Amino acid sequence: MPLRRLSTLPRSNLATLPTHLEQGPQFEDGPRLWIKRDDLTGLGAGGNKARKLEYLCGHAMAEGANCLITVGAGQSNHCRMTAAAGARLGLETHLVLSGDRPDTLVGNQLLSHLFGAHLHFTGAAASHWGALEIAREVLTEELAADGLRPHSIPMGGSTAVGALGYLAGFIEIMLQSQESGFVPSAIVFTSSSGGTHAGLLAGKALWRSLGNDVPDVVAIGAAKGVLMGMPDVVALATATLALVGESGVLASDVEIDADYLGEDYGIPTEGADQAIQWAARTGGWVLDRVYSGKGFAGLMGHVAQGRWGVDDHVVFIHTGGLPSVFIDGGVPL
Ligand SMILES: Cc1ncc(COP(=O)(O)O)c(C=O)c1O
Repeated sequence: MPLRRLSTLPRSNLATLPTHLEQGPQFEDGPRLWIKRDDLTGLGAGGNKARKLEYLCGHAMAEGANCLITVGAGQSNHCRMTAAAGARLGLETHLVLSGDRPDTLVGNQLLSHLFGAHLHFTGAAASHWGALEIAREVLTEELAADGLRPHSIPMGGSTAVGALGYLAGFIEIMLQSQESGFVPSAIVFTSSSGGTHAGLLAGKALWRSLGNDVPDVVAIGAAKGVLMGMPDVVALATATLALVGESGVLASDVEIDADYLGEDYGIPTEGADQAIQWAARTGGWVLDRVYSGKGFAGLMGHVAQGRWGVDDHVVFIHTGGLPSVFIDGGVPL
């Protein structure tokens, strides 16, 4: 019933789904590794935001919007993918970004520009999330006053509607694992604005309510803000699940590990750099320093602490981040 309800909600077809669940090596005395290739969701060079944008843009189209606005750090993957979604759907797209306009656009900014988005640089520091959100609200009002019908998307697309993408993503992982003959012990991923996390928690609650065994959902924090938002993850997951007429998210399901984020968002860590090298040389996977490298460092840290044995299967969701790899200092050399 809830899954049927999910299929009736507005959705724009933007992502290439299902993404592959790819087998990695067995860690020595540790678990079997699987990589969920959400870096290959297709939209605008791929990444986790494509799943959220399917529901966010479905909603925007249903309410007759003709313009998208969103916000993020200067090199936001979410903003780049929203720009690509706008291009696909024929919607004018405005991005509110931290920092100042550089002389030359690179990485996600270059791609966002290529997708035709308007880039608004605020001069704010990347970790000043509150100031960036206010700038988004002000711009939304200005564009509405100019006669546009904007659909304004908060940081990371982390609303209940956006998180539906990872409710569906959780079910996708469980069905793929079933086909491969295992139940994962854990699903590990990088978290910042919390929408991916909330969606996975909603999916977990739904899957459990259908009588299935469920994995741990392990969020590795990449920004300090996510830790302050911890109670909100339960509220967001509950609101997400309510959209399909269900309840059952447990506060005890929430696990956010802050040990791998280092000083803060966007500041490289030695652990992430080692994880990036390991992933590149072992599986040919390209992780980045801001997000997926820190998440994978978290997974490797839990493996080193002996959390899982040789019979366990652990899924790492590769959430993307490729464009920042081509910017100075985007990967360790
Ligand atoms: C590559 C990548 N991984 C992980 C995340 C974290 O996702 P969320 O904002 O849903 O917590 C982001 C968010 O921008 C991202 O770009």
